Amino acid sequence: MKGREPIAALTVYDYPMTRMLDGCGVPLLLVGDSLGMVVLGLPDTTGVTMDDMLHHTRAAARAQPNALLAADLPAGSCRTHADALANSRRLIEAGAEAVKAEGGLEIGEYVRAIVAEGIPFLGHLGMLPQRVKEEGGYKIKGRRPDERTMLIDDAAALADAGAFAIVLELVEPTVAGELTSALPIPTIGIGSGPDCDGQILVTPDLWATSPDFIPKHVQPNEQVKTEMESTIANWMNSIGKK
Ligand code: KIV
Repeated sequence: MKGREPIAALTVYDYPMTRMLDGCGVPLLLVGDSLGMVVLGLPDTTGVTMDDMLHHTRAAARAQPNALLAADLPAGSCRTHADALANSRRLIEAGAEAVKAEGGLEIGEYVRAIVAEGIPFLGHLGMLPQRVKEEGGYKIKGRRPDERTMLIDDAAALADAGAFAIVLELVEPTVAGELTSALPIPTIGIGSGPDCDGQILVTPDLWATSPDFIPKHVQPNEQVKTEMESTIANWMNSIGKK
């Protein structure tokens, strides 16, 4: 799809959501570890476990989407080469058709091994939510020259290792545009400006139903949440509940 049409991607966490978004024709669905914040009530993604990811990947996969279904390798699941491979296999056994992990050069060898197993790999660069504690927050990457150089090297390493696309999260938009032009594989931006090959969002952010925080780069449709709330209020009224 690179250079031909924008790639729309959204997150899913369960069977009905996957059915609905697949029915809308979204070509790439991700069981993201944003699961932690938007479903499990955790403060960030660092507490999401392999078991959590497997449970929700199985549920999403039961929808048998036409979309490519990718799943996140959660924090701590790729500490060793063997873990990265074994956990990628487990996500595929659970029904994912591709895996995503955060990182660049430092995971290049894992990525090569995962791809050599026939498992499609989606990269993730820029702000890495699994490192939010070390980073001290969700900050834009690529403004400083050293960050820009690092992003270029990391993206080249992932493409060289066989990644089929790279998510760019909170990357300075001109740098995201540069990476998009330079790479042979698609970039999928989130808060990284319009010049990426595709865009991904955390779906409950778009629906305004994310409970605690909606990032600035999203224009949530508040009506979705309001409609859901009024449906509940109307139903309570209909049974005589004040
Ligand atoms: O976990 C997630 O939802 C993600 C997206 C933000 C790309 O990684």
